[in-house]
Amino acid sequence: MRPTQAPFPATRLRRTRQSPALRALTRENSLSADDFIWPVFVRSGEGIEEPVPSMPGVFRRSVDKIVDAAREAADLGIPAICIFPYTGLEERTEDCAGAWDPDNHANRAIRAIKAAVPEIAVMTDVALDTYNINGHDGFVENGEIVNDRTVEALVKMTLSQAEAGADIIGPSDMMDGRIGAMRAALESEGHQRVMILSYSAKYASAFYGPFRDAVGASGALTGDKKTYQMDPGNSDEALRLIERDLSEGADMVMVKPGLPYLDICRRVKETFSAPTYAYQVSGEYSMIQAAAEHGWIDGEKVMMESLMAFKRAGCDGILTYFAPAAARLLNKQR
Ligand code: PBG
Repeated sequence: MRPTQAPFPATRLRRTRQSPALRALTRENSLSADDFIWPVFVRSGEGIEEPVPSMPGVFRRSVDKIVDAAREAADLGIPAICIFPYTGLEERTEDCAGAWDPDNHANRAIRAIKAAVPEIAVMTDVALDTYNINGHDGFVENGEIVNDRTVEALVKMTLSQAEAGADIIGPSDMMDGRIGAMRAALESEGHQRVMILSYSAKYASAFYGPFRDAVGASGALTGDKKTYQMDPGNSDEALRLIERDLSEGADMVMVKPGLPYLDICRRVKETFSAPTYAYQVSGEYSMIQAAAEHGWIDGEKVMMESLMAFKRAGCDGILTYFAPAAARLLNKQR
């Protein structure tokens, strides 16, 4: 129970705000480089660092450059990097076989990072969209995104990533039953140490627009993802999904997008006390960058304020394209 506060003037709540020292002493939440997972985009070729037009400050990198990025992240104290493949239309097929090819760009990037920068944790993306000719996260049969056949493919994809050395598997596909199937396969194939961070509460969101451009999926996607990603009007359903994924063997759970769904982050953390992450997605990032480029907001301050909001909402960490910029700033302030 909350004790009654002495009335004014015995209680003056401004007392704790009067100086940087007293504000630091009474601050309830804090941010550090430890809180970040940095999503990066890998593509074919060598020596390539190609800007993503819809995401100022974000690049598609060839494997050698991803290794440099991983080293930079580790030096900044960022504990994990998350690999997304960029695939051109010519690399996409209906059977999505590239997804579990041990030598696809993503798996080559995992191997190269684990060889050169073993101290950074590597997270993956499990979904068919970046290998699928029609941009969907699952197989499409007669216009329907089919569940169980997709889960079989996602399990193959998971195992190829675990074999490449991934530390954290990141299923972003929203099919039913995938976490249990992945966990069983990881156990039986000798990958007991591999973690799963499930995109459990992933909404069908227009905030993913710039990402689809970054991975080459915007031209490819036919229709929308509403039959598998969540309806933005729902909140209880997020709790059911999180409970289901934890019971199937997820080690950590995610809410996505981030800022527009902080109410979900708070409910999830309070209900399950499990390691809870939010994804500050591409649209959230690009809105801040665009407004900052116009001089309408102070980009650095808004970046830090937006990241602190996730901690306040109860998140243990944040997937954010701002990770290196924010870590650099935080390290300087220390
Ligand atoms: C797809 C996937 C998406 C994102 C991560 N994994 C896009 C989608 O569901 O269409 C979005 C990330 C972002 O917007 O930053 N499996």
